[in-house]
Amino acid sequence: METVIKTRGLTKRFGRRTALDRLDLDVPPGVIVGYLGPNGAGKTTTIRLLAGLIRPTAGSAMVFGFDAADQYDALQRRIGYLPGDFVAYPDLTGTQYLNYFAHLYGGVDRNRIELLAKRFDLDLGVRIGALSRGNRQKVGIVQAFMHDPDLLILDEPTSGLDPLMQREFRALLRETRDAGRTVFLSSHMLSEVEAVADTVAILRAGRLVTVQSVQALKDRARRRLDLTFADVPPAARIHAVPGVQDVSVDGHTVRVTVTGSTAELLKAVAPYDVTNVLSHEADLEAAFLDYYDGQEEPCSATSS
Ligand SMILES: Nc1ncnc2c1ncn2[C@@H]1O[C@H](COP(=O)(O)OP(=O)(O)O)[C@@H](O)[C@H]1O
Ligand SMILES: [Mg+2]
Repeated sequence: METVIKTRGLTKRFGRRTALDRLDLDVPPGVIVGYLGPNGAGKTTTIRLLAGLIRPTAGSAMVFGFDAADQYDALQRRIGYLPGDFVAYPDLTGTQYLNYFAHLYGGVDRNRIELLAKRFDLDLGVRIGALSRGNRQKVGIVQAFMHDPDLLILDEPTSGLDPLMQREFRALLRETRDAGRTVFLSSHMLSEVEAVADTVAILRAGRLVTVQSVQALKDRARRRLDLTFADVPPAARIHAVPGVQDVSVDGHTVRVTVTGSTAELLKAVAPYDVTNVLSHEADLEAAFLDYYDGQEEPCSATSS
């Protein structure tokens, strides 16, 4: 299958500052990738490189087999881009602004624009300058999706949207993915992407730390379990199970933290009379923060 995004050694320096350091990334079609990292990690820089808005200092960014920096014309219609700092012409109405872009794309189905606007409860007849931040963001969303592009590149897309609209937006992302399109979205908050992304790529100080499926991230996350026994709990037995930590006993109940699978633990207690098992939500945030550990500066400065 055609790789949608393929970067090799992709590097961007601003003066002595390395915003992105030798990124190697492959994104297949039909997935939602969450590009995660703290502020200053290099997410926007990556996205601007993928959208062909800035040139790499070194390395390459290929999108659908085209060089993002040099073959912008071939890519324009296939990419929907939402910048992080979406600012549109304040004197234009939403309709005027979108028509202008529809023209650049060589024509867009009017119905699709109307449907998107309606879906996000956006009045396209209003001057963009008179819209709230959230509503301006919606104009940007319509612009990114209106020509039904094969790849969506979205920089912190839900910022400024209220929870209801965020939910609608996530539904739109899933539909887009299910229709075979590819979505690459950045966020500095795990909670924003875990609900919708298939894969997360974690960036720290310009370097890619890991690429994992959300499921794998969940599997290695810590989880709290409360096990209640009919008799005195076999605390020593439980303690000996690999991956089990923080064992505490409260009457007939044992509280534990398990990293990864709970299968071994459940096997160990199977011979005993367990009367209740309470499983708490996996602490994905903690698993995610593990990747952030050791972070000192928001960006690595090149010393040579
Ligand atoms: N145009 C620029 N000129 C100088 N430094 C920049 C520029 N754009 C980004 N940077 C720096 O590059 C680093 C990465 O920034 P950015 O890609 O915006 O991170 P993120 O989007 O993850 O918050 C930051 O240290 C930022 O200050
Ligand atoms: Mg950014």
